[in-house]
Amino acid sequence: MKFNSDEIASVLQAEIEQFDSKIDVREVGTVLEVGDGIARVYGLSGVMAGEMVEFPNGSIGLAFNLEENSVGVIILGDYLTIEEGDEVKALGTLLSVPAGDAVIGRVLDPLGNPLDGKGPVQSDITRPVEIIATGVAERKPVTEPLQTGIKAIDAMTPIGRGQRELIIGDRKTGKTAIAIDAILNQKGQGVKCFYVAIGQKDSAVASVVDVLERYGAMEYTTVIAAGASSPAPLQYIAPYAGTAMAEHFMFNGGHALVVYDDLSKQATAYRQMSLLMRRPPGREAYPGDVFYCHSRLLERSSKLSDDLGGGSITSLPIIETLEGEVSAYIPTNVISITDGQIYVQPDLFFSGVRPAMNPGISVSRVGGAAQTKAMKKVSGGLRLQLAAFRALEAFAQLGTDLDPATQKELDRGYRMVELLKQPQYQPLSVAEQVISIYAGTNGMLDDVPVKEVQQFEKEMLQFVNDKHSSLVSDMTAKPELSDENVERIVKAVTEFKAVYKGGER
Ligand SMILES: Nc1ncnc2c1ncn2[C@@H]1O[C@H](COP(=O)(O)OP(=O)(O)OP(=O)(O)O)[C@@H](O)[C@H]1O
Ligand SMILES: [Mg+2]
Repeated sequence: MKFNSDEIASVLQAEIEQFDSKIDVREVGTVLEVGDGIARVYGLSGVMAGEMVEFPNGSIGLAFNLEENSVGVIILGDYLTIEEGDEVKALGTLLSVPAGDAVIGRVLDPLGNPLDGKGPVQSDITRPVEIIATGVAERKPVTEPLQTGIKAIDAMTPIGRGQRELIIGDRKTGKTAIAIDAILNQKGQGVKCFYVAIGQKDSAVASVVDVLERYGAMEYTTVIAAGASSPAPLQYIAPYAGTAMAEHFMFNGGHALVVYDDLSKQATAYRQMSLLMRRPPGREAYPGDVFYCHSRLLERSSKLSDDLGGGSITSLPIIETLEGEVSAYIPTNVISITDGQIYVQPDLFFSGVRPAMNPGISVSRVGGAAQTKAMKKVSGGLRLQLAAFRALEAFAQLGTDLDPATQKELDRGYRMVELLKQPQYQPLSVAEQVISIYAGTNGMLDDVPVKEVQQFEKEMLQFVNDKHSSLVSDMTAKPELSDENVERIVKAVTEFKAVYKGGER
């Protein structure tokens, strides 16, 4: 075989010209000790707080504690195969997750890995998990409503786009149900929804996903799940990851709704991590900065100014209380950060008042500005009326004889309580809610037996939708309670009462 020296020389020359030397300088450290989802690493002296690091088994970690001689790393993944002496690479970037349209309709873990078996998320867009919330100058007051479709809430504790409304109550009182109904009601409203499940049973998350799918809500929803069996760091990071995905839409002028279900479990996960990192424990053994953990999260829900596109993130954080104890550490913290709370109570829930909201202590601090005119008009005073009714009811139980005026007020109260009950997965439009509440508060249901109120309302709305569809569409297009509309409502309800047969069916 004969070699052509010119040929060899030209090949070599080409190779040399194309040689592109990339020096990849990355800091590398060594694992000193590992356990319980955290690792102590020596040698990462230049690492940033919150920077990602990588372990040999592919697990990602987050630099959490920067100490004099070592770095405390929380491991976001499998830590059982990490050993002492393993090499840890600093990745030079802050933790980020995929974002954009590609995440919609997916069930993901807090790092953006698929949990739904539909393959990796194909997106060029990523967003940092933690950012500093927008400042005062970049925000605008909340003015547009975010309808939940639940009468009791839209009437008494209305929520606006960009607001943070806490759902708080004991276990099994319908907290998740309220949030899910709010998501279902965003269909066709141009609001992207994010349901962040923290520390829940996988079966509970699966049933939420199933409901969302059945009602067609997965078309605009992402579920971010860190179940009870996920490591504490993942549960801790989940709400920030969900918010980061929502922020993509907010900063592009869109609207998003984020549900954090629930922040009590996130606080517990954070407490676990902090104690393992030997941060000093404070009240209830939570670390001193657990308030900041929640405030910096919830401050990211906002309504942006017009200059920034006017997008918004509305959030519904959920807090579970023990025996109705709202003055425990975490509940008081989150109550003070949010713009109001929906307080659900077990006694109401078990007596059949569902949603079990207690109107006396539930408030919305900004939502009133975001209510439609019609709703504001019919629901004004409804809360006080119900509170007065509850007081009167307690009094009436003493068995004293009541004067007719008081009796009448009581009768009206019983009917209003019935009227505000609402089954799950049946959100009502604003027009329907206004018609129902108008009929109730104006005594048009006073002659309907209490037991039949729910049936009556259902058939009435059916009737109005069938026979007076123009009223419903007019009120949807222009949600005002003009004299003309009032007349039409009265006419429609009276007409229905004439054909209503009564009796429980
Ligand atoms: N408006 C409603 N009408 C009828 N049933 C309801 C209503 N709201 C909730 N429920 C039922 O009550 C049960 C508890 O509801 P849910 O799971 O929402 O409560 P939770 O407070 O989120 O509970 P957990 O403490 O497990 O998180 C569920 O079986 C749900 O179907
Ligand atoms: Mg729940």
